Amino acid sequence: MSDIKRMKLYRHPERVYNEINAVGHEEDALLKEKDIRSFDQYHYLGTDAVDDAIDCLKIGPQDRLVEIGSGLGGPARYLAEKTGCHVTAVEIQPDLNQIASSLTKRCGLSGLVEHSCGDILEFPEDSGNFDGAVSWLAILHIPNRSILFKKCRNILKPAGKIFIEDYYKLGEFSPREVEILCEDVQCPYLPTAQEYRRQLMENGFTDVEFEDKTECWSDFVRERLEKFIENRDRYAKLNGNEIADEMEDFYKKILQLFRKGNLGGARITAVKG
Ligand SMILES: C[S@@+](CC[C@H](N)C(=O)[O-])C[C@H]1O[C@@H](n2cnc3c(N)ncnc32)[C@H](O)[C@@H]1O
Repeated sequence: MSDIKRMKLYRHPERVYNEINAVGHEEDALLKEKDIRSFDQYHYLGTDAVDDAIDCLKIGPQDRLVEIGSGLGGPARYLAEKTGCHVTAVEIQPDLNQIASSLTKRCGLSGLVEHSCGDILEFPEDSGNFDGAVSWLAILHIPNRSILFKKCRNILKPAGKIFIEDYYKLGEFSPREVEILCEDVQCPYLPTAQEYRRQLMENGFTDVEFEDKTECWSDFVRERLEKFIENRDRYAKLNGNEIADEMEDFYKKILQLFRKGNLGGARITAVKG
């Protein structure tokens, strides 16, 4: 946890407030979830990726979900707003969790989204009985898959489902790629698709479906960088040059990883066996 701030994406999470204020919302004013959904999602393809979870898990108002690594709370708020479900959003970084909580309150969604600050690996199992577990680009930070998947299994109801979007290993990483993954992405370990599947099954999941997303994620990270460079002046005016440099460097490194062809992206679903 102490090193997670080496990842530039997480260094200045308060920049989300600059974006919100810049589109005309007053400090601390009430918000609508739809007003902020283009700023508060830290994964790829925004709320489209959350819609896929809604379809896949058939999420409705009766459901209680846990989100692993909830960031600024964007996916959790969208899930709650769109379906009326209840989400426990677990986030290890206190500053992100605090911002997430304040945005949820401003969106009037605190009755449906509960923010819990801590390591998912230490999440109390007696708060369990969830219908589903969801996670976007967070598991890549958690090398101990056995503890993680056992935890998920233990907090899910019988036949509860897990929906994950995550990186995986397609080919052997070069020493430079390993360095970028460990340092800039805080991702010390990635399994192959086969290993991912096996780890879920060994820890009590069945019906594992593994859908490769590498091509569309590569396109997404390329377009993200192109758009960033196009709008860099505006971004630097809003957030300062130092933050603009950090974000550009981060986006470039992620694109570099996808271009090398050894980093894969996947959507994985499984059912508690
Ligand atoms: C790339 S962000 C994605 C955030 C959110 N899922 C989204 O899509 O907007 C991954 C998040 O996982 C969190 N995280 C990493 N390890 C964690 C752990 N062990 N327990 C809880 N959260 C964790 C990070 O702090 C980070 O906020």
